[in-house]
Amino acid sequence: MVHITQLLRQPTTTHGLARALRATVKELELHRTHRASQKAWPNGRIDDTPRKVQIGGGAHRIAGFFNIDAVPPADLLWDVREGIPLHEATVDELFSEHFLEHIDYPCSAKHYAREAHRVLAPGGRLITGVPDAAFVLAQYPAGTADSDEMIKKWYGKRDCLDDINTHLDLINYVFRDQDDDPTYNPHYWAYDREKLVQLFTEAGFTTVEPWNFDPQIANPKRQWGSVYVIATK
Ligand SMILES: C[S@@+](CC[C@H](N)C(=O)[O-])C[C@H]1O[C@@H](n2cnc3c(N)ncnc32)[C@H](O)[C@@H]1O
Repeated sequence: MVHITQLLRQPTTTHGLARALRATVKELELHRTHRASQKAWPNGRIDDTPRKVQIGGGAHRIAGFFNIDAVPPADLLWDVREGIPLHEATVDELFSEHFLEHIDYPCSAKHYAREAHRVLAPGGRLITGVPDAAFVLAQYPAGTADSDEMIKKWYGKRDCLDDINTHLDLINYVFRDQDDDPTYNPHYWAYDREKLVQLFTEAGFTTVEPWNFDPQIANPKRQWGSVYVIATK
C-alpha cells in the first residue's frame, strides 16, 4: 500500500498506471474493511436477524431497515460481492437502489441474486432499482426533451458538462460510468426490466413485477430514469 501511495505521488507515473493504482487502492481498502467485519463474524453470518434490510444505501438510510454497505455510514460494513452475511430465510424485505450496476456481472450480480433468494423468508420481497438502460436507449439517436433533461439532471451536478454532453454520452453513462475520482463507483453492467426479470427468475424467485415507487423507502432523487422491480420468493 505504501509503495502504491509513493508511486501515485511520483510525477513520472503515467496517467494509465495512476488510474489502475487508484482502483487497486480502493479495492485494498474495501478488502481491509471487509476482512475486519469477517473477523467479527468468521462464519459469514451476523447474530442479528433483521427483517428489513437495505443493501448499498450509502448515505440514504431508511428508518426501520438494517443497512449493509461496503463503506460507512452503514450498520454493517460488508463487501456484498462476497455474499450477504445473514441467516437463511430470515428477511422479509431486501431493498437496493443504484447498487446492482456497481458490482460485476455475471459473477457478483448472479451471486447477489442467489444470496438474496437464500436470506429471504418464503414470500419475502426483493426490491431493486437501477438506472433504466431502456429509457436511455430510447433517447438515441434523435434526442428528446427527456434526454436534454437527463443531461441536465445527471451531469449537471457532477461538474462535467464540458466533457459529457451528448446523447451518446448518456448511453456511456449508463453502461460504463466512470470517473477519475478515487471514491467513485463505476457502473459495471446495464439493466432494463427484462434483464432484472431474467436475473431474479434464474435465481429462483417466483414472480418479478414492476414496483410502485414508494418515497418512504426509495430515494426520491432516484425515481426519474430508473427501473424498479419487486421479486417475490
Ligand atoms: C451509487 S451509490 C447508491 C447509494 C444509494 N442507494 C442511493 O441511491 O443514493 C452505490 C452504493 O453501493 C455501495 N456498494 C458498491 N459496491 C458494493 C459492494 N461490493 N458491497 C456493498 N456495497 C457496495 C457503495 O458503497 C454505495 O454506497
